[in-house]
Amino acid sequence: MTCLFCDLVNSVGLSERLDPEELRETLAAYHRVCATVIRRFEGHIHDYLGDGIMVYFGFPSAHEDDAQRAVRSGLGIVEAVEQLNSRIQAEYGIDLHVRIGIDTGLVVAGALAADEGMEDTAAVGVPPNVAARLQALAAPDSVVISSAAYRLIAGYFDCRELGFRSIRGISQPMTIYQVLHESGARTRLDVASQRGLPPMEGRDDELATLAGRWAQARAGQGSVALVAGEPGIGKSRLIWALQQHVAQSPDAFLVRMSCSPYYMNTAFYPVVQLLERALEFEPDDTVEQRLDKTDGLLAQYGLDLPTVVPLLARLLAVPFEGRYSPLDLPADRQRQLTIDALITLTLKRADYQPLLVVFEDLHWIDPSSLDLLTQLIERVPHTRQLVVLSFRPEFLPPWPESPGLERLNLNRLDREASERIVTETAGRPAPNELLDQLVEKADGVPLYLEELTKLVIEQGLIRPPQAGTSHPGNACGLADSTPGPVDRRQGCRPARGGHRPAILLRATRSRVENDRECGLAVAAAQLVPVGRRWTAPGRTQLPRRYLHLQTRPHPRRGLWVTAAGNAAAVSQAHRADADRALPGHGRDRA
Ligand SMILES: Nc1ncnc2c1ncn2[C@@H]1O[C@H](COP(=O)(O)OP(=O)(O)O)[C@@H](O)[C@H]1O
Ligand SMILES: [Mg+2]
Repeated sequence: MTCLFCDLVNSVGLSERLDPEELRETLAAYHRVCATVIRRFEGHIHDYLGDGIMVYFGFPSAHEDDAQRAVRSGLGIVEAVEQLNSRIQAEYGIDLHVRIGIDTGLVVAGALAADEGMEDTAAVGVPPNVAARLQALAAPDSVVISSAAYRLIAGYFDCRELGFRSIRGISQPMTIYQVLHESGARTRLDVASQRGLPPMEGRDDELATLAGRWAQARAGQGSVALVAGEPGIGKSRLIWALQQHVAQSPDAFLVRMSCSPYYMNTAFYPVVQLLERALEFEPDDTVEQRLDKTDGLLAQYGLDLPTVVPLLARLLAVPFEGRYSPLDLPADRQRQLTIDALITLTLKRADYQPLLVVFEDLHWIDPSSLDLLTQLIERVPHTRQLVVLSFRPEFLPPWPESPGLERLNLNRLDREASERIVTETAGRPAPNELLDQLVEKADGVPLYLEELTKLVIEQGLIRPPQAGTSHPGNACGLADSTPGPVDRRQGCRPARGGHRPAILLRATRSRVENDRECGLAVAAAQLVPVGRRWTAPGRTQLPRRYLHLQTRPHPRRGLWVTAAGNAAAVSQAHRADADRALPGHGRDRA
């Protein structure tokens, strides 16, 4: 779970300068803007502590990107409070400033109170405390995050390292960071590709199919390919490989759009993003500059500026009335004309050069974009376009079957491919026993293979041989096998009244007794019922069914098991010597 703590700077000073009524109104306005931002990212406001606000991301409801959501909320709050200041400054002559701290890790969450009827959404663990401490270290109007949170958001945001710091109440110092702004990378793959992608395993047939479709599209026979599969299965990776292939055609033109979970209700969101990129809008462009850019693009396509610019300018929220006559159309008509204009742009482009149109993550598409896509798909067959759409299985494509519509369902990878991903991610061979465990747990999902491998590497369980110590044919060395900090604190004390089945996810490091090969410790995230004494598991005890890095209800107990973003949180938690828990919800449903 990720915790965000936000506090006002110098609230004592405020209370001296404002009368109680003014102070109350000011604080209420501040709480309101914070709550609005937090709601947008589906955070849970746990508590208002004076003028501080404690927010959870990942509990009671979990998302795969909770750490990112927390950071976006943090930056959003800073911005929103700045906006609020113009009003407060005019009314009361004061400015508000906030500091924000964010930490990710394990907590015991859920019904903690002994008394029925008491708040049962509390989270007990290190992250709430660390978030509050980091907040105190932040400069006014800035967001400071722990190394555990950084690990989950690195690449998505540009950050400045603030150094290796001791944090009161936390036994080990950690590197902390100030978040500066979003990096522009929107997907895992954007982030990973900054460092160079490892080879793609086991998708030769799918790639060949797509490449065949591309060859046909170049020859004037356009089609649509649907790439379906669960999160982390490799939809984006496959499409990335297709893009590499397409880039070899010197005449190819790529159009990329992706839907976002944050903007499922924002009309044409993916299209707006694309247009803003294509038009090279800069944050400090004036209205005139934006209109010039829009005019320029549409003129290039030979479109009638007075009819089309207002449609696109409205879409892009650029005031155009100084240059063109206002739009005076019913909303439906305006929407359809906008779709027509966008389709015209695409078709004109495809006349000029073959197009690869990639539209990712349709499970988050907004209704207007879906409408656009449907109308585009109708026009594809006799154009030089390949339209590739990706989505999770819950999205049901509304388009009728046809020879020009091909569906690829991405399945889990086989054992050999899985092993290669582990080796590639580790950068060295993993010992057999560990390899088996990783492959078994990840169950053919590439994302899990990568994350679990990174997790065991961080715990030092795969490392290069040291001169003179390695066994022949065995590339691993024995990692530190003395009991780690978690081991020493093995009794996971139940929280007060923790008689209800809350759960703890623990990163454990244990030495398997009598291990033959290299005395390798087996790392695994273990779910342990709270209150039960934790003991180092033997290899047969690893509870495989618990290690699914996704949210899903526990079949019997109705528990929610989630790894709050990914396994990295677990390993960080381990390093920080923290008793941390998961958004485990301990209610019996029966
Ligand atoms: N076939 C594959 N071979 C190697 N790595 C893969 C493969 N498919 C996916 N990956 C890796 O797994 C991670 C998740 O893949 P991604 O394409 O983002 O999944 P999805 O888009 O289906 O959610 C990425 O880091 C990606 O590089
Ligand atoms: Mg993807």
